Formats: sequence, structure tokens, C-alpha cells
Amino acid sequence: MSGNLATVSYIGATILFILSLGGLSSPVSSRRGNLYGMIGMTIAVLATVFGPRVTMAGLPWIIGAMVVGGSIGLYAARTVQMTQMPELVALMHSLVGLAACLVGFANYIDPAAAAGLTEAEKHIHEIEIYIGIFIGAITFSGSIIAFGKLSGKIGGNPMLLPARHWLNLAGLLVVIYFGREFLHAASVAEGMTPLIVMTVIALLFGIHMVMAIGGADMPVVVSMLNSYSGWAAAATGFMLSNDLLIVTGALVGSSGAILSYIMCQAMNRHFISVIAGGFGTTSGATPVAGAAPAGEVVPILSAETAELLSEAKNVIIVPGYGMAVAQAQHTVFEITRHLREKGVNVRFGIHPVAGRMPGHMNVLLAEAKVPYDIVFEMDELNDDFPQTDVAIVIGANDIVNPAAQDDPTSPIAGMPVLEVWKAKTSIVMKRSMASGYAGVDNPLFYKENNRMLFGDAKKMLDEVLVVLKS
Ligand code: TAP
Repeated sequence: MSGNLATVSYIGATILFILSLGGLSSPVSSRRGNLYGMIGMTIAVLATVFGPRVTMAGLPWIIGAMVVGGSIGLYAARTVQMTQMPELVALMHSLVGLAACLVGFANYIDPAAAAGLTEAEKHIHEIEIYIGIFIGAITFSGSIIAFGKLSGKIGGNPMLLPARHWLNLAGLLVVIYFGREFLHAASVAEGMTPLIVMTVIALLFGIHMVMAIGGADMPVVVSMLNSYSGWAAAATGFMLSNDLLIVTGALVGSSGAILSYIMCQAMNRHFISVIAGGFGTTSGATPVAGAAPAGEVVPILSAETAELLSEAKNVIIVPGYGMAVAQAQHTVFEITRHLREKGVNVRFGIHPVAGRMPGHMNVLLAEAKVPYDIVFEMDELNDDFPQTDVAIVIGANDIVNPAAQDDPTSPIAGMPVLEVWKAKTSIVMKRSMASGYAGVDNPLFYKENNRMLFGDAKKMLDEVLVVLKS
């Protein structure tokens, strides 16, 4: 492929990536957005592999690596459960970080990469390598820890080391010092030591940063690591002088940063305090679990739930992570259809961090073919609960926890929540009294107008549907 054709293909791929991002902004156009992304990526890969910079001798290696990587990706995509998607995404981010590190080291060792560069160009090239490896290493280790936290392999509580901010600052100063040493190194062998020291510090920094973040703040970290992986890819693009990688990396980096900002707003958190990790919490202490709620819970049976639903005029359904675990979305749709046919006004209230990844609930509801026009964001219907007969919470917990409003000592204090307790009756569907992701007790369960429907959400909803239809 000629250089010109490769450049044109790169421009085409860039346009498709931008269209893809635009499409992903709404559930209606998201399929189209994905399609643009897939076509763009195919063009990008083909233009790179068959482009002028790959020699015939290198081709078998690249194709071999693509077959191995593609097979692993295909296998993972086919076998991963919907509930494991966030972990998979975190793992993918770690690979981008690892790739940036490996490309950085390879670029530094490769004598051809710096051949013919002037003194100033060589310095710029080395700065690109240093920064690229730095961002890549943070992304790599931070994403591995995020994977551990999301999959439950590592506890969700923040690990707050004493003087952690000073440790981070000291680490940053050491990285700057070794950056200077690296730039002044007389040979590749001499430059290797500062490069390796910086990589180790960056890896530790990534671990420390994510370990210090508490359960309920994880959504921000996941989108932030998404952003970092974009910047790591952009840095790789600079190292390899690949314009497409720079543009794509910048698109991912900036959209991830915007998403992190939106997440922070939804969680009522300050961005800096989230990334600084447990800012404002006492050093070395685990968060206060909030005052233990008092009172008794009132259980309800599925038949009674069905009765309440069929007598209601207005119903709001609040899905959460448990709906994804139970894969109850199709039964939810069946119940919704049945109630709507009977003239009940059924709407869905979606919290921005419900589930384990942005848009998690929207994807599940779209998969079950729930009409988009009855799916509302939290802010759009939070004021409507007092006029609602039944608010039914399906496997959600943190996002409907009144402690976020009432208990300033709660670790989720200040986080906006869906005010389901303001409905005439709220019904919470879950298997036990266990807490949610943030590990906080939920006073909602003990409210006078609240009922608990204990059991697997899919099983319970199947029972409700049978009664509704009978
Ligand atoms: P959670 O607070 O995690 O609560 C989910 C509840 O579902 C659990 O209490 C669990 O109770 C119940 N459950 C699990 N399996 C079930 C099943 N098969 N049937 C019925 N219930 C089941 O979820 P949420 O309310 O959606 O809140 C999301 C939380 O995750 C927030 O803290 C958020 O910060 C965090 N988070 C979100 C994201 C994003 S981007 N969305 C990313 C990372 C973390 P039982 O065990 O008693 O059944």
C-alpha cells in the first residue's frame, strides 16, 4: 500500500471513530456507532499492517500476533458474562498500558528509532518515551487493581497509607529527578537505570492510586483509567510517529476525561478528591459504616407484589446490579408490557452509576427491548416518587440508599440517590440483607412503607408474572 493511500485510510478511520463516538451517545444510535467503530478499526489495522512502514519480513510476525490476540479476544467476548464486562474492560485497559510500556522500551533500545535525529529531536523522542512509559505503567497496574476490585478478588475498602499524599509527591519528585538523569544519559545502557526506576515507581503509583479509592467511587476510577489508556495510546502514537494512534488515543483520552467529569457530577464528588483517593478521610482508617439502621423489615410475597402492581396507576422500576446478576431484564420487560396493556403508567429510573459500568442498565433494558421512551435518568423522575403508587427496586442497593442524604458520616454521603421511599409503597427485591458495592447498611429496608421481596430477582419476577397473568 502506498504512503498516500495509507494516509487517506487513516483520515477515513479517524472520521469513522468520531462518528462512532457520536453514535454511542444515545441508545437509539449506539448500534450504528459500534458499526462505524468496527469499520474504522478494520481500516486502521489493514492500513497499518499493509502500509509502507511494515516490511515483508515483519509481516508473518504481525499476522501471527494478530491471530493469537484476535482468538483470545474472540474467546473472551463470546464467553464473558454481562456482569463480568466491567472487569474485562479494566483488563483491556491494562493491556493498552502494557503495550505503551513495551513500545517505549523497544523504541529506546532500537538504534534505528533515533537514527538521523538532531540533538533536540532526540531529546523530544526521549521525553515521549519517558512520558509514554510513565502513563502506560500507571494505567497497567491501576487497571489490574481495578480489575481485582471489580471482580471482588480485592476488597472494596480504600487502603489509606499514612502520609499517602506525601508518598505520592515524593514519588513524583523522584520521577522528575530520574527524568533529568534519563535525558542526560550518555548511552542506552546508562539511560536504562532511570527508565526502570521510573517504571517501578509508576507501577507502584498506579497500585496505590486505585487501592486508595473506596467502593462507591470506583465508577470514576474506571472511566479515569479509560481516559489514561487513551493518553497511553496517544503517547505510543508519538513514539511511533503514527498520526492515527495519536488522534485515536486523544479521542479516547478526552472522552474518558469527560465521562469521569460527568460521573463525578453524578456522584457529587470532586474529581481531584477522588483521584487523590479517600481525600478527607482519616489516614489509615476504614470509612465509617454509618449509623446502623434500626427497626424491622417487612417481607412480602410475590403474589402480594403482583397484587400491588396490578392495583397501581403509577409504577417506577429501579434496576440495579442484581438485575444484571439475575439476568432478569426479559421478565422485567414482560411484566412492564403486561402492566402497560392494563393501563398502568410504568417508567424506569436509571441511576448514573447503577450496575458496574456506565450505561449498564440501559444496555440490559435495550437488550430486553424495553421502549426507550419509558426509561428516564434519575434527575428526570426523582421528583415524581411522591405521586407513585409502587416503586419496585430490582437488585439495587447503594443507588436507593437514603443514608446518602440523611447520614453525613456515611461513606456515600452526598451521593444523589433515587428517592424510592417517597413512593406510597416501595418494594426491594434482593436475596438477603447483604449490603451493596459500597458496603453500607441501607435504612430503606427498615422504612414503614417498604417491603422486602427476598429471593433471586429472576425467580421472584417470574412468580410475579405468573400471578399477574392468572
Ligand atoms: P449494589 O449497591 O452493588 O447492590 C446490588 C444488590 O443486588 C446487592 O445488594 C445484592 O443483594 C443484590 N443482588 C445481587 N444478585 C442478585 C440476584 N441474583 N437477585 C436479586 N438481587 C441480587 O448495586 P447498585 O445499587 O446498582 O449500585 C451500584 C454500585 O456499584 C454503586 O456503589 C456504584 O458506585 C458501584 N459501581 C458502579 C460502577 C458503574 S460505572 N456503574 C462501576 C463500579 C462500581 P443480595 O446479595 O442480598 O441479593
